[in-house]
Amino acid sequence: MPELDEKAWDQLRQAARAARELAYAPYSHHPVGAAALVDDGRIVTGSNVENASIGVTLCAECSLLGDLVRTGAPGHRGRLIAFACVGPNPGALLPCGRCRQLLFEHGGADLLVDRDGGPVPLSFLLPDGFGPDQLP
Ligand code: THU
Repeated sequence: MPELDEKAWDQLRQAARAARELAYAPYSHHPVGAAALVDDGRIVTGSNVENASIGVTLCAECSLLGDLVRTGAPGHRGRLIAFACVGPNPGALLPCGRCRQLLFEHGGADLLVDRDGGPVPLSFLLPDGFGPDQLP
C-alpha cells in the first residue's frame, strides 16, 4: 500500500477545505469539500451540489470523480491514491455508503481515506467491495 507523508495529507486537506468553499448546499447548510491525489500527480477536487429535489443531491465525491475523469488522459483517466474530505465540522468526513462504492471503482481496496486517528484503506470502510473485477 502506498504511503503518504503528513505534508502531503495536509495539502490534500487544504484542497478539500478550499473545495468546501465552493459547495452549493442551500438546503442542508452542510457544505462538503473533497480532494484526492491521483497516480499521475494531479489533485482532483469536488464539492457537494444540492438540488431542490433533495434526493438527487450530488455528494462532493461525485463532482470529484467528474473532475478525475474529465481532466485525465484519454488512455488513463487516473487512479485515486489518497482521499480527504471535510464538512462543516472539525476533522475528516467519511464518505457515505454510496460514495464508498463510487470511490472503489476508481481507487480500489487500497485507496487511502483520511480519517481522524489516521488514514485507512477503503477496504476497511467497504470490505469485499464489488468492482469491475467481478464483471466478465
Ligand atoms: N455529503 C457529501 O457531499 N458527501 C458525503 O459523503 C456525505 C454527505 C453531502 C450531501 C449533502 O449535500 C450534505 O452532505 C448533507 O447530507
